[in-house]
Amino acid sequence: MDGNGRWAKKRSLNRIRGHREGAESVRDIVRACREIGIEVLTLYAFSTENWQRPKQEILALMKLLKDFLRSELSEMMENDIRLNAIGQVGRFPGDVLKVLRGVMDKTQENSGMLLNLALSYGGRDEIVMAAGRIAAEVRAGQLEPKEITEKVFSNYLYTQGMPDPDLLIRTSGEMRVSNFLLWQIAYAEIYVTKTLWPDFRREELSRILHDYEKRERRFGTTGEQVKK
Ligand code: FPP
Repeated sequence: MDGNGRWAKKRSLNRIRGHREGAESVRDIVRACREIGIEVLTLYAFSTENWQRPKQEILALMKLLKDFLRSELSEMMENDIRLNAIGQVGRFPGDVLKVLRGVMDKTQENSGMLLNLALSYGGRDEIVMAAGRIAAEVRAGQLEPKEITEKVFSNYLYTQGMPDPDLLIRTSGEMRVSNFLLWQIAYAEIYVTKTLWPDFRREELSRILHDYEKRERRFGTTGEQVKK
């Protein structure tokens, strides 16, 4: 969800106003995905690197997240949305964590859509954590090195049990992956739009999904094999 700062700068507003408008895009996109029937939506809301931002900006982001969780709980319940978080959520302040865990608990039986928030998330950090957990199990004699397949490895990631993403959308025109779901996006289709996140709403999502439908996903095979 990139481009909040630039959206604000273009309007001579402070960056926090950009994040606030970005939270409106989050509301619109979550609703739209639920209506369309998307099974899993993962939003990169806060990276491990984002802790280096000015304290005021971090505090504002925490508050926005807390307000969002509180205000959207009833809608998540009505629309059968389950909330989950991936990342080092334990680094979040206690008050935010309490609200986050509360919403995750209350929505845990919902099955219409999974809304995954990547919070204090880093793809490399996630892979290192998984490797550490696997090493500990091998040392304890609970796992044999030859049992470590791609499928087994993926069970040690935050996204355990979830399908890999089909489509990765990056806003604000940046042509990089920025440490997002590094393992999981191996075969994801990538769409980069110049639109800044606060201006990204359901109409554009819909156009991108139509573009995605036309792509041929080969997963390493040939075009002829896919057509069979
Ligand atoms: C990146 O834009 C955006 C973030 C670091 C924060 C994303 C947060 C929100 C959209 C709002 C709160 C989230 C939820 C889930 C309610 P940037 O600040 O790096 O923008 P720039 O590159 O233009 O400076």
